[in-house]
Amino acid sequence: MALVSMNDFLPKAKAGKYAVGQFNMNNLEFAQAIVEAAIELNSPFIYGVSEGALKYMGIEFTVAIAEAAAKKSGLPIALHLDHGSSFEVAMKCIRAGFSSVMFDGSHYSFEENIRLTKEVVKAARAMGVSVEGELGTIGGVEDDISVDEEHANLAKPEEAIRFYEETGVDCLAIAVGTAHGMYAGEPNIHFDIIEAVSKAIPVPVVLHGGSGVPDEMIRKSIAAGVGKINVNTENQVACTESIRAALNKDAKIYDPRKYLTPARSAMIEVVKSKIQLFGSSNQA
Ligand code: 13P
Repeated sequence: MALVSMNDFLPKAKAGKYAVGQFNMNNLEFAQAIVEAAIELNSPFIYGVSEGALKYMGIEFTVAIAEAAAKKSGLPIALHLDHGSSFEVAMKCIRAGFSSVMFDGSHYSFEENIRLTKEVVKAARAMGVSVEGELGTIGGVEDDISVDEEHANLAKPEEAIRFYEETGVDCLAIAVGTAHGMYAGEPNIHFDIIEAVSKAIPVPVVLHGGSGVPDEMIRKSIAAGVGKINVNTENQVACTESIRAALNKDAKIYDPRKYLTPARSAMIEVVKSKIQLFGSSNQA
């Protein structure tokens, strides 16, 4: 099966009140772990690729790996640019074979964010590619983007609704209190904002910063209208902890396969538990 746009599965997720996971791809082992978990549970999913990860893996390898996963699994898989910073980078990804892009104009003024997102939607739609927009700024650190708590602004429901109406995005990330990276305590998620926006627009709300959010809060977010949840850090932690343990156990290891195999298995377990929690098992 070829890579698909998020519109192949997000409308179904919204109607069925479950969420599809965006699992970020950082290298081959991440990609393999994510697709293996999804095959076991027969779930659609999204490979998220940040600009930093794109630089690290190279755009050709990224697309080839995702296409191989789609072909091997037969699952509906979207390859999605995460937090795209410009029209140009979004177009570069689409030309290379991405089936979905996020344009993150949250650092611009509200009107400018609408204007720029509309341009991306117009071009992407013509090519059958789905688009995610962002409103409000999500805190935490992801690659080169760092937003401290003080500057993380929650989205205003009226603005989010107008943003959707003017841009026609296929899903909308709104800042509701989660952050990229692990949390020191528990996040303070504003379920009322999710609900107010989700009720008023036909597309799903996206929850960024899915790592470390307690299961109960994830369930409540989905019930309130979240249909796409992003997870990266939990896989990074599982991968690195597993490698560290393997190297600490045997200082003589030199074959990367000896520590990357258990690291991949650890990530499979993380992704399986998220797919089950999000409710997307058997929805492929
Ligand atoms: P975490 O790294 O906190 O899971 O967030 C991932 C994310 O939101 C990617 O956009």
